[in-house]
Amino acid sequence: MAKLIDGTRNKLSSRRGFLKAGLALGGMAATTGAIAGEGDPAILEKKDWVQYTGDGVDARPYGTPSEFEEHVTRKNVAWLTADPVSSVNFTPLHELDGIITPNGLCFERHHAGIAEIDPAEHRLMINGLVEKELVFTMEDLMRFPRENRVYFLECAANTGMEWHGSQLNGCQFTHGMIHNVMYTGIPLKYLLEEAGLKTNAKWLLPEGADASGMTRSLPLAKALEDCLVAFKMNGEALRPEQGYPLRLVVPGWEGNMWIKWLRRIEVGDQPWHHREETAKYTDLMENGKARHFTWEMDAKSVITNPSPQAPLLHKSGHTVLSGIAWSGRGKVDRVDISLDGGRNWRPARIDGLSLDKSMHRFYYEFDWDGSPLLLQSRAIDSTGYIQPTRNELRAIRGTNSIYHNNGIQTWHVKSDGEVENVEVS
Ligand code: MTE
Ligand code: CO
Repeated sequence: MAKLIDGTRNKLSSRRGFLKAGLALGGMAATTGAIAGEGDPAILEKKDWVQYTGDGVDARPYGTPSEFEEHVTRKNVAWLTADPVSSVNFTPLHELDGIITPNGLCFERHHAGIAEIDPAEHRLMINGLVEKELVFTMEDLMRFPRENRVYFLECAANTGMEWHGSQLNGCQFTHGMIHNVMYTGIPLKYLLEEAGLKTNAKWLLPEGADASGMTRSLPLAKALEDCLVAFKMNGEALRPEQGYPLRLVVPGWEGNMWIKWLRRIEVGDQPWHHREETAKYTDLMENGKARHFTWEMDAKSVITNPSPQAPLLHKSGHTVLSGIAWSGRGKVDRVDISLDGGRNWRPARIDGLSLDKSMHRFYYEFDWDGSPLLLQSRAIDSTGYIQPTRNELRAIRGTNSIYHNNGIQTWHVKSDGEVENVEVS
């Protein structure tokens, strides 16, 4: 927390008034910061950085974060990673703010490692039920109109390890199979129009150029509605791990359908029922039957701070709670916060951009009295859908599932500020 010096006291007290009026739970605690003149060596000592010039403009041709941020990385879970070429790592959600995930921190999920593709040798083919089967080079693709859109990508398996009870200690691991970036891409409908769809065309089979040759059946209606063939993320070329030079963007739908290293789209009249949509990425219900395709990602939220990797170091007083919410069906209209395991709810403050099928950032400022808390958040999306509790989900889905767990997460904040992953019944 920033130290308070005399000049900023007014600012803080007006903020305090705002907190009291709108958001705070009780009376505010003592000043947040030390009174100036108490001899803090951090402001009294002459530091190196004020005495010597720093690196010049030639030192960092491609910028990287401060050395003090070295701990902010994607991380994997050892027991989930028998072989790193067919595994996952997780976005450090508790270290991020706002809604955009920096490119180097977007979680990765590969079925056969990262394909390193020379764009000069990359082609996108459209074949099947079209008037003309076409092959595009990257240069050809750059001549189509493009759009910029911010979307979340969530793996269907995100939070999947929590179906049977709380397991992983940190929102990075429980909820970190999500990222949210601005894509630049060509609406897929333009490419399909160029090839000319036959009247019986109903389904697409996008295919990846990696060694897993990933394929998923995609209904044509979705492709025509809002899918993009993307080549940039957050303004720069896709990273190799995110599908360089081309990936499919399927807004609001499960991450598995967002084929990376996209090289071919076959047009057909029915779904293919390949491995990734039958044996995998399918929800097995209690009665042994499986759901036939679960594409849309339901509304979900998680508190990122505090959380097990981000304890409350200040022990009591002014506390900023923050988190993220998203829905595959539209915008997030409201996020509610509970400090007592779901008994009482209060609205959080959604801040920044509220975009369709994109991450939303929320805050809840309160005055913590130092007693244990059971923190929960629940998202309500623009269709009126309310994020369910874990037990509400289990009542409908049973406990055979791995995928599509959007149940409410609980963090237990202990009086020493440490946080653990728990469930409340
Ligand atoms: N596309 C190909 N070609 N190969 C893959 O292994 N993994 C899928 C999907 N597209 C995959 C793929 C899965 S399961 C997910 S969740 C997302 O890509 C992950 O995207 P990311 O690595 O950019 O986070
Ligand atoms: Co996935």
